[in-house]
Amino acid sequence: MPLDILVGAQWGDEGKGRITDLLAEEAQVVARYSGGDNAGHTVTVGAQLYKLHLLPSGILQPRVVSVLGNGMVINPARLLAEMEQLKQSGVDVSPARIKISHAAHLITPAHVALDKAEEAARAEGKIGTTGRGIGPAYTDKIARHGLRAELLLNPEQLGDAVQEHIRQVNRVLQNIYAAPPLDANAIAAEFAAHAQRLMPYITDTSLYLHQQLAAGARVIAEGAQGTLLDIDHGTYPFVTSSSPSAGGVFNGLGVGPKWVGRILGVTKAFQTRVGEGPFPTEAFGAEAERLRGTGANPWDEFGTTTGRPRRCGWLDLVLLRYAIRVNGLTELALTKLDVLSGLHTLRLCVAYTANGETHTELPLGPADLSPFTAVYEELPGWSEDVSGARELSDLPEAARHYIRRLEALTGVPVSMVSVGPERGQIIFV
Ligand code: GDP
Ligand code: IMO
Ligand code: MG
Repeated sequence: MPLDILVGAQWGDEGKGRITDLLAEEAQVVARYSGGDNAGHTVTVGAQLYKLHLLPSGILQPRVVSVLGNGMVINPARLLAEMEQLKQSGVDVSPARIKISHAAHLITPAHVALDKAEEAARAEGKIGTTGRGIGPAYTDKIARHGLRAELLLNPEQLGDAVQEHIRQVNRVLQNIYAAPPLDANAIAAEFAAHAQRLMPYITDTSLYLHQQLAAGARVIAEGAQGTLLDIDHGTYPFVTSSSPSAGGVFNGLGVGPKWVGRILGVTKAFQTRVGEGPFPTEAFGAEAERLRGTGANPWDEFGTTTGRPRRCGWLDLVLLRYAIRVNGLTELALTKLDVLSGLHTLRLCVAYTANGETHTELPLGPADLSPFTAVYEELPGWSEDVSGARELSDLPEAARHYIRRLEALTGVPVSMVSVGPERGQIIFV
């Protein structure tokens, strides 16, 4: 079947961009179906490092068409800046290569201001959002007064809608958060200019994808965020406001499940999260610093979008099994195996305990993980640098044992092992 789904199996930043870029070599279309520029997907091509926030990671494969689906929330200024930056690097960003759904929602400076004001008001209970206006934009969508991308095709309606929206948000900013109001006229003028530039890209992407799938094209649905940040299935309320899990693909692109082939979950060889919320296998002190890195390498664990240090810990197979279940994963791509080189002992969380009982499944999902303590299986580490490995047999026995244990404890095969950020640093199993 021609639709392959790729999702993050953890709390985001699993290396989805890097794996999507590889799979896109054999695809005709790559589509984002959820989230917005809260995502930061890094793709390394030779000496060049691309950080993609809104455009799908297939954009770096010249023959691939990129789709921004209706499930996304799009900040037009940020999209145009991202397109401009890629253009400077010689990437073709013409309308023939990028299609934006008419039904995607727009993020405005008012959504960004609200996101920041809401976070500040949450104080101790803050979520640690990326501050990109994601939550407020999805809130407007669900409340049925959002701004859809199709407005960009109608300058007069757009002007009125933006003005009205800014006036509404200003009332909230001023009266509830005591924050300064925004200039509705100036923002309407900005959006009129964005419309001129983005108009040729707006189309019914559901229709386009259907035509492509029916003609046998291979389409990759590229997840953003991760399963544990899903509004329904994640560590609520420490989640994002969309559906990054596999189920979100169908609503977020307007395609049916009948086309689906592979459902690939991307997971790091350890666990990270950025922002607040529970994290049962979190490491602290020297152990965490070792996993995070110092920031000297571009792949060290500092947020692609915000630069915040990521919280780091051991691979949690209770949560990974959960992600396998809610997404129906058929396979796993394991990334950053190279980062574990040099650790004497590795730990895999195989179960939780609570009140003297052992749990291998979450009785009520991951929202409240506070009763649980991680139970670890310890495995021998390896000292060899594995970044040059291209086949499983190139890996030290301890690394192969780690992968075999992961497969045995999850029941899902590992089909790719990433041993570095570059295109060639991959083992196809
Ligand atoms: P995404 O949001 O899931 O696309 O992931 P990010 O791009 O936010 O974070 C993943 C980081 O790890 C990026 O800097 C990647 O270049 C890097 N990366 C991906 N796979 C590997 C790998 O196997 N080894 C190493 N060392 N870095 C990797
Ligand atoms: P990619 O696609 C990691 C996290 C934020 C915060 C929570 C809510 O690069 O994997 P939001 O701004 O979405 O309202 O923030 O979700 N978050 C991410 N964490 N990777 C991401 O994207 C994320 N997108 C959002 O840190 O905890
Ligand atoms: Mg990221």
